[in-house]
Amino acid sequence: MTRKVPMGAAALILAAGEGTRMRSSLPKVAHRILGVPLVRYVLDAAYDAGCGRVVVVTGHGAELVESLLGGETCVRQERQRGTGHAVMCAEAALAGVTGSLVVLSGDAPLLQASTIARLVEARETSGAAAVVLTTSLHDPTGYGRIVRDDAGALSAIVEHRDLGPAQLGIAEVNTGTYCFDAEVLFEHLHRLGTANAQGEYYLTDMIALLRAEGLTIAGIATGEPEETLGVNTRVQLAEAAKVLQRRINREHMLGGVTMTDPDLVWIAPSVGLGRDVVLEPMTTLMGATSVGDGCVLGPDTRVTDSTIAPRATIDSSIVVGAVVGEDACVGPRAYLRPGTVLEAHAKAGTSVEIKNSVIGEGSKVPHLSYIGDAAVGKGVNIGAGTITCNYDGQRKHRTQIGDGAFIGSDTMLVAPVSIGEGAMTGAGSAIAQDVPAGALGIERCDQKNVDGWVAFKKAGQGSDDQ
Ligand code: UD1
Ligand code: MG
Repeated sequence: MTRKVPMGAAALILAAGEGTRMRSSLPKVAHRILGVPLVRYVLDAAYDAGCGRVVVVTGHGAELVESLLGGETCVRQERQRGTGHAVMCAEAALAGVTGSLVVLSGDAPLLQASTIARLVEARETSGAAAVVLTTSLHDPTGYGRIVRDDAGALSAIVEHRDLGPAQLGIAEVNTGTYCFDAEVLFEHLHRLGTANAQGEYYLTDMIALLRAEGLTIAGIATGEPEETLGVNTRVQLAEAAKVLQRRINREHMLGGVTMTDPDLVWIAPSVGLGRDVVLEPMTTLMGATSVGDGCVLGPDTRVTDSTIAPRATIDSSIVVGAVVGEDACVGPRAYLRPGTVLEAHAKAGTSVEIKNSVIGEGSKVPHLSYIGDAAVGKGVNIGAGTITCNYDGQRKHRTQIGDGAFIGSDTMLVAPVSIGEGAMTGAGSAIAQDVPAGALGIERCDQKNVDGWVAFKKAGQGSDDQ
């Protein structure tokens, strides 16, 4: 359980950079892990930590990034003139903020809410003007280094390009995550200059500046070192995805979920899983999905934006925007599309596609069928190869099937059409008219049997061969 920061704390997320090394037409923070844009992870961590107010600085691809953030407060940084300049752009949007202001990078999706809370707590208990989240790396190349005075106190951050020869060996780096006293930050922000290797306004220069004013600066270390991995390349994007996968899967396993091979199971952060769920390899659960107790999903299964009730089984199937009832059975190789409701104990079996339809309690669609825009009652059996012909080329039409009906194999149900309670259709029929309750609907040519045909045919072929 994450410890919350006092609700007064605000957060600023810097997300205006282009991300040149992604080699992409998308802005870096719009790239996704498990379906969620990078910047969204940072935003959620800030809210989960208890930050009451969050502002995001956008720039490259601003319209797209802002659309991914819904109604969040965004400010534009038209030209990217450095992290210090990005904070200056947010000054008006943060007017009136007092107390703690957390500054985060939009490209660091692994930072945990508990670490943000720890950072705020460290500042509020020490009364420091700023607290920097630091970590030590075997290879600190590219990072800003933490410079400490003889007493060990944090006195400056020096960017890699601006390091003196004696500072090159410093392993402790700036993670780009800070908590400032908001009033102190904005009081001094405009004193930042651009006298550095990149000619930018560095937020990192605030540390030496505040120290020179006699203010206290503190540093705290990250929990796990990988937490501060910034995504600059697609290689790092995959690395960050792997860390998130492990973190999410571990939580679910500790919560009572069995995974035969957790490396082959991908679960989005928004997915909820009950106890004694079993996830077989190559199972992917995305979006707003919830899975009830005792379900068995996979192998080779993808479930997106769906609700799966307890004890359902889904084998080698795709389920999107659907509701699967208790003890229902899906697959192998079924495709449940948006608007499908499979009620309790129902079955959608082998190579069955269902869209925008309710399949009533205990009803079965076991093999090779397409059911679209249909309301199927309880205890219905739908024979192999049945198709609802729901589309006339211009409009979609509905099919109704009453409780207890029996649809013969290879029935074409030409919608709009209604099959009454307990009615039957003959195998191979194209049913274009309603069938009353209890009746048999059959549409079929009379069968002819030609006696002796097989022998006659064989004899004919035999003479051809010689
Ligand atoms: C920054 C830090 C460095 C730290 C590293 C950790 C500075 C000067 N340096 O370097 O000490 O070790 O992060 O990853 O802060 N951004 C804007 N507007 C800008 C520039 C950047 O919004 O004008 C955003 C970027 O989108 C990104 C974040 O700020 O999300 C950090 O910027 P980036 O260019 O990645 O800084 P680093 O060189 O990594
Ligand atoms: Mg960076």
